[in-house]
Amino acid sequence: MLWRELDLSVARGEFIAVLGPNGSGKTSLLRVLLGQLGLSAGRARIGGAEPRAGHPDIGYIPQQRTIDAGVQLRGTDLVGLGVDGHRWGLGLRGRAERRRKVAAAIADVGAEKFARAPLESMSGGEQQRLRVAQALVGDPAVLLCDEPLLSLDLASQQLVSGLIDRRRRDHGTAVLFVTHEINPILPLVDRVLYLVDGKFRIGTPDEVMTSAVLSELYQTDVDVLRVRGRLVVVGTGDTMDALGTAGAHCHGDPGTPHIPDPAGSDSGRQPRQAHT
Ligand SMILES: Nc1ncnc2c1ncn2[C@@H]1O[C@H](COP(=O)(O)OP(=O)(O)OP(=O)(O)O)[C@@H](O)[C@H]1O
Ligand SMILES: [Mg+2]
Repeated sequence: MLWRELDLSVARGEFIAVLGPNGSGKTSLLRVLLGQLGLSAGRARIGGAEPRAGHPDIGYIPQQRTIDAGVQLRGTDLVGLGVDGHRWGLGLRGRAERRRKVAAAIADVGAEKFARAPLESMSGGEQQRLRVAQALVGDPAVLLCDEPLLSLDLASQQLVSGLIDRRRRDHGTAVLFVTHEINPILPLVDRVLYLVDGKFRIGTPDEVMTSAVLSELYQTDVDVLRVRGRLVVVGTGDTMDALGTAGAHCHGDPGTPHIPDPAGSDSGRQPRQAHT
């Protein structure tokens, strides 16, 4: 079992960072919300309904894999997969609208120069930018991002996190952002979900990223230092990027992660102020 009694509601426009060591269940949480993985107990809701595969209101940036050699997909094709065909129809107008959306999403991530090349010829960072474009092109109400900044240089990290931040502010998109490195997104984060070994804490970065909370989660002495606006986590044998392993296999109720209907009762709610 990965988590017990996890109860999380994500508001419209909210930016939640999901942290935790390898194997703590971060990707699994996203896969539950995508309808790719069932819960052994408990309930998940997204957009007011059971998770299901291919939900048009959900954007997903998968944990990075290299594109298999031999897959003859161009960048523009990948981004086009993120456009919901039903919404635009297949007529001439629909096709033109689709092309316009794809081009705009590609421009947003600054990928015009290489988007028409085969994916397998691109660098990891170039592929990653196109994955981000694919996730955003469908105008999602919920955005699930699995380590989206991995293999991006600093400028691209800022570009991508800025795009995601703008989307949730302008469109009220709720964001679950899995990361091993909180510093690049710290100013954007409303709340942190920290998973370790079947245990978790949810709260603002100030509430969760403390020596006391992390020492309790990790069951060992952990120091959280604040150095010039950055968080440095010490005492886990490594930096925050590799906080040890947490197999997290036990028995019990994994609880109920759920996300409210983005168009539902709280739809008038403004995005929260970014945490500073
Ligand atoms: N379908 C599945 N059924 C059972 N166990 C699974 C399944 N998928 C993943 N696991 C296991 O669940 C644990 C959590 O995996 P998950 O991929 O969610 O971790 P993670 O927090 O994303 O780790 P990382 O930081 O390495 O990406 C792992 O031990 C993994 O082997
Ligand atoms: Mg993962």
